[in-house]
Amino acid sequence: MAWTGSPRFDFRSDTRTLPDARMRRAMAEADVGDDVYGDDPTVAVLEERVAELLGTQAALLTPTGTMANLLAPLAAFGPPGSPAPRLIAGAGTHMAFLEPDGLRRFGGVELLPVAQRPDGLPDPDALAELLGTGAGPPTVVCVENTSMMSSGNALDTEAMRAVAALVHRHGAHLHLDGARLANAAVALGVPPAELAGPADSVAFSVSKGLGAPAGGLLCGSREYVARARELRGWLGGSLHQAGVLAAPALVALGRLPDLAADHETAAALASGLASVPGVEVMRPPRPTNMVMARLAGLPPDACAERLAGHGVGVLPLPNGHVRFVTHRAHDMIGVRAAVRALAAVAATVPQDRPTAPAWTEEA
Ligand SMILES: Cc1ncc(COP(=O)(O)O)c(C=O)c1O
Repeated sequence: MAWTGSPRFDFRSDTRTLPDARMRRAMAEADVGDDVYGDDPTVAVLEERVAELLGTQAALLTPTGTMANLLAPLAAFGPPGSPAPRLIAGAGTHMAFLEPDGLRRFGGVELLPVAQRPDGLPDPDALAELLGTGAGPPTVVCVENTSMMSSGNALDTEAMRAVAALVHRHGAHLHLDGARLANAAVALGVPPAELAGPADSVAFSVSKGLGAPAGGLLCGSREYVARARELRGWLGGSLHQAGVLAAPALVALGRLPDLAADHETAAALASGLASVPGVEVMRPPRPTNMVMARLAGLPPDACAERLAGHGVGVLPLPNGHVRFVTHRAHDMIGVRAAVRALAAVAATVPQDRPTAPAWTEEA
C-alpha cells in the first residue's frame, strides 16, 4: 500500500503517541539481560512495578496487549495444554470486535459476544443466561475498562465488583482488559489496584495514552502468571533483551497523572463538536480520552474520509460514529481544527429541516 502519511491532527488512537527524547534515552541506556532466561533486570523491575500498581502478585511483559488478551483465557484453568475455555466478552469490546479470529485460531478459544449496557458493562441478565445455571464448561468473562464502544466510559469500582460477583457465582474467571485502566483510574480518582481488585487477571497496556512504544502486561496470581509465561513462549512472544522495551514503559508509568490533561482535551473537543449543527456526541457517564460523534446523513466511513481531507484523522466505527481519541500530542489548536473540520464537512451534508406540514392553510 502506498504511504499516504499521517493526518496533521491525528485523533485515530492514543496508540499513536510517539516515544519522546526521555523514553529514547531510557531505551539506549537500559540495563538488559536475557528475559527468556529470566535475568533482564529492567523487565523484572517493570513487572514488579505493574504488579504493585494493580495489586496483583505478579505481572508478565508481552509485546502487545493483544497477546496479553490471548494468553489470558489460556492460562485461566490448569497447566498449559489444558482444554481452552470459552470466552464471553461484551460485543463491543476490543476482544470481541478485533481479536476473535486470533483467539480461535491460535488459542482454540470460542468467543461468545454478550450485549453491553450503555456504560460498557455486560448486561447482567444476558451474561447470567450465557453463564447458565448448572456446571458449565470452564468460562472466562472479559470486561473492558475503559469501555471503547461506550466512548471510553470509565467503569467504577462498584460496577467492577458487581460483575465480578456474578461471574464468580458461576465459577468463572473474570478477565479485565485494562488497556486504558490508567485512564479510568485517573478519571475516577481511585488507585488502579482498586479497579483491578475484583478481577482474576488484568491486561494492562503502556503503549496507549501512557506513550511507550509497545507493551502489554498480563497480571494475576503467581501461579497464573507462571502459566502465562510458559504459554507466551509457545506463542513466540518471549523477547531476549526486552529491557529496551521495559525501560520506556517505566518512564510511561511515571506519567499516569498526565492523563488528566488528555481527558480535559477530550471534554473540550466533545463540547466543540456538539456545537456543530447536525452533530450528535455520545456522552458517557464517566468520560475519559475518547469522543464519539455522528453526523446526521453521513455514514462514518464517508465522514472519516472527508475529515481526512481537512487533515483530521478519526476512526469510523460500526456503531455509526467516528472516534476521536485525545493524547499527549494534542492541544487546543488540534481541538479547534477538528471542530472546524467537522463543521466544514457538516455544511456539505443536507440536513433534514423541519418543514411546514403540507396540509396547513398557509402551505
Ligand atoms: C481496549 C483494547 N484492548 C486491547 C488492545 C490491543 O493492544 P495492542 O495494540 O497493544 O495489541 C487495544 C488496542 O488499541 C485496545 O484498545
